[in-house]
Amino acid sequence: MRIFLIGFMGCGKSTLGRALASEFKLTFVDLDHFLEEKFFRTIPQIFAEEGEEGFRMKERKALEEVACFDDVIVATGGGAPCFFDNMELMNDSGFCIFLDVEIDSLVKRLLHAKTERPLIKGKSPEELRIFIEGMLAKRRPFYERARYVLRGNEIPVRQVVDLIRSVS
Ligand code: S3P
Repeated sequence: MRIFLIGFMGCGKSTLGRALASEFKLTFVDLDHFLEEKFFRTIPQIFAEEGEEGFRMKERKALEEVACFDDVIVATGGGAPCFFDNMELMNDSGFCIFLDVEIDSLVKRLLHAKTERPLIKGKSPEELRIFIEGMLAKRRPFYERARYVLRGNEIPVRQVVDLIRSVS
């Protein structure tokens, strides 16, 4: 089994991914962490040194590797599905679940998040909301190519567990 959790920054991919991995006895891979270990640099460092373009190329390479792992649940970075043919790669090697969390929740979570995210660094709450609205509108067509979509303010682990049980 190979499952990819996709969705905007702050939608809960990593938290859910860890819980699901323990429920289904799968290995959990956080694509951002995998990439940081593979290239010996943090994401903010890669963005600062190589720009977003360099980061997206490294992200693609990391995704290609992870797409060959067996029995994994992968939390991808929020932008991963929207570059190259990453959606095809994920859809062909496993199945994707899009966590479609409402904008209000994304804003709240991102304002309180500890992880440094170069794309939203230094934004005020109002700037952050405008950024999310615009970026999510552009990314949605990619995300919606996932085999399954779960919507809500909060997506409970139980709901994802039931979905995976029903399809595997
Ligand atoms: C990004 C999301 C981040 C990380 C990078 C770029 C994006 O991952 O990959 O900062 O383009 O949305 P999370 O979705 O885990 O925050």
